[in-house]
Amino acid sequence: MSILILYGSETGTAQDLAESLRREAQMRHLAARVFELDEYDVGNLLSEDVILFVVSTTGQGEMPPNMRKTWKSLLRKSLGTDFLLNTHCAVLGLGDSSYQKYNFAGKKLFRRLAQLGAKMMTRSVFLADDQHEIGIDGAFIPWKQEIWTRIWEMGIFEKMSEQIDPEVEIQTKYRLVAVEEAPEEEPEDVTPSDSEYRALRVASNVRVTSEAHFQDTRLVKFEIPSENPMSYLPGDVLMVRPYNPQETVQIAIEALGYSPEMLNKTVKVVKNDPNSKNPPYFLFGKQKTTLLTLLQRYFDLQQIPKRSFFEMMAYYSKDPSEKERLRELSSPEGLDDLLDYANRCRRTTAETFRDFPATSKHLELDHLFEILTVIRPRAFSIASAPSRSHVELLVAKVEYKSRMADRRRGLCSTFIARLKEGDEVFCKIRAGTFRFPPPDAPVICIGPGTGVAPFRSLFGQRSEISPNSTGLLFFGCRGEHVDFYFSDEWSKMECVEVVAAFSRDTEKKVYVQHKMGERARDIKKMLDSGASVFIAGSSGDMPKAVASVLAQIQGEEWTKKAEETGRIQYETWS
Ligand SMILES: Cc1cc2nc3c(=O)[nH]c(=O)nc-3n(C[C@H](O)[C@H](O)[C@H](O)COP(=O)(O)OP(=O)(O)OC[C@H]3O[C@@H](n4cnc5c(N)ncnc54)[C@H](O)[C@@H]3O)c2cc1C
Ligand SMILES: Cc1cc2nc3c(=O)[nH]c(=O)nc-3n(C[C@H](O)[C@H](O)[C@H](O)COP(=O)(O)O)c2cc1C
Repeated sequence: MSILILYGSETGTAQDLAESLRREAQMRHLAARVFELDEYDVGNLLSEDVILFVVSTTGQGEMPPNMRKTWKSLLRKSLGTDFLLNTHCAVLGLGDSSYQKYNFAGKKLFRRLAQLGAKMMTRSVFLADDQHEIGIDGAFIPWKQEIWTRIWEMGIFEKMSEQIDPEVEIQTKYRLVAVEEAPEEEPEDVTPSDSEYRALRVASNVRVTSEAHFQDTRLVKFEIPSENPMSYLPGDVLMVRPYNPQETVQIAIEALGYSPEMLNKTVKVVKNDPNSKNPPYFLFGKQKTTLLTLLQRYFDLQQIPKRSFFEMMAYYSKDPSEKERLRELSSPEGLDDLLDYANRCRRTTAETFRDFPATSKHLELDHLFEILTVIRPRAFSIASAPSRSHVELLVAKVEYKSRMADRRRGLCSTFIARLKEGDEVFCKIRAGTFRFPPPDAPVICIGPGTGVAPFRSLFGQRSEISPNSTGLLFFGCRGEHVDFYFSDEWSKMECVEVVAAFSRDTEKKVYVQHKMGERARDIKKMLDSGASVFIAGSSGDMPKAVASVLAQIQGEEWTKKAEETGRIQYETWS
């Protein structure tokens, strides 16, 4: 008898949590199977006793791609209200409250399961929020505590223990084997979500902010190989899979005590559980790889370690004093201590290995698969007009100071900023949030900073196919000669008038919302003649300020309705 854990994930976080639930179930003597939702046969759901769902929301409040088939099946009218009568279910939604349709996938799934008669194990859906001070752990930890108690109280899993048994030996998800010892060749991995990623060659990488400006923003051009074509539309995003920076890999290698021989020995990653999903072999090689490649491309060494990192380090530690400290940091009472040690100063995972030398130096290689999470791809709005030969991104490098001695750097934006011509990067195209109207329909776009990227794509396309269309673009930046992206291009596009707000060129700071206020009459005229509004960029104060100007122009009621019907659309990020 075992429980079933199903996940729906776009960038891998829900999968990580599902795997960590499987591990914790194992530590409670409870067998668990983990599948991505679309890999599991919906018809079998009704014969399960307990199902734990972990699902993220993607796009604009959408279900992640690897659960859309199942979601469609679950919505079938033919399924009665007693379909899941004998099944206990719980749902953890993963989302980000800076998105308008916050955690829609988890909320909808919870409601539908209840409609289908499932016995819901919690009174409502638990919602994990990227914006929480400790990220998704803010909801994941209380949710799983409640779930384990419920399952224990059911009393149907005889061997289950109420508390975690520290003596249980966890079977790692994968193991590393020397290539001579690797088992028989397996058929090539054809997992669709992985195989959609393909290596794109960097054609150019140009800094578009002035050298004197602190912000390093890049316009990066990737070539699309003609033998492996891909196409995109304005509003689409490019998912990019970054690698760890060399300096972070070096900190980890020293902390873990790996010799050059260990790092460069040819190995293969093999699944321990035949039911589990293959790792993304395309990233590091299926038949042969090295530990060094895994440290560079697969394990996330740069992220702030989550509580599960400390739990697993404590579990594997043989050093009494480090074990105790790791336990403190992973305990519910140690939350503030953890925030102070890891989150507030934005310590990286590699630096944390360094702080626990006795534990780190004695970890077995296979333990890394349980301690570390996998590098997540990042989304970037495509900045070029549709083309079969290339795709461009406008990327602002994230870099800032914290209490730590070294400057903190965003993983993917730094990776992109350092790309050289000829480098290859794994990417895939997916739909973004925006659904633009036909090319001749009027549009008002608001895109300060890198938020202008999707509008360069849109107006670039309109210049070619609908040059007489009407567009008004509000762009905001610090200064006309500092970070006014594509300033030389806009004047050549007849289909758009660009209104720029420079926040530091005058004594009084001028932002896009101020410029919109100045152009209220034109905006009203355009809206009355059917224009749609698109807002892209930082999810800070800007979207609210823009919505408030629109409400002043057209009224609160109109604005609310326009947001609901898609006349006003947002693509914002933190
Ligand atoms: C649909 C979509 C489209 C996007 N389009 C673009 C685009 O066109 N261009 C673009 O540049 N980005 C875009 N982004 C953002 C992009 O995906 C990344 O989030 C961004 O590049 C940062 O990623 P990173 O890996 O460099 O940083 P990470 O390693 O993920 O670190 C980012 C984290 O660092 C923290 N942080 C950042 N600055 C500070 C600070 N000053 N103090 C303390 N903490 C800080 C924040 O918590 C933030 O979450 C888009 C995002 C989405 C979802
Ligand atoms: C392109 C993109 C779109 C997103 N859209 C939403 C959204 O509409 N609502 C929401 O609550 N969260 C949204 N998120 C946040 C994710 O749900 C959140 O980061 C989650 O932890 C990702 O889980 P995953 O890695 O399993 O896909 C979005 C994230 C990305 C990258």
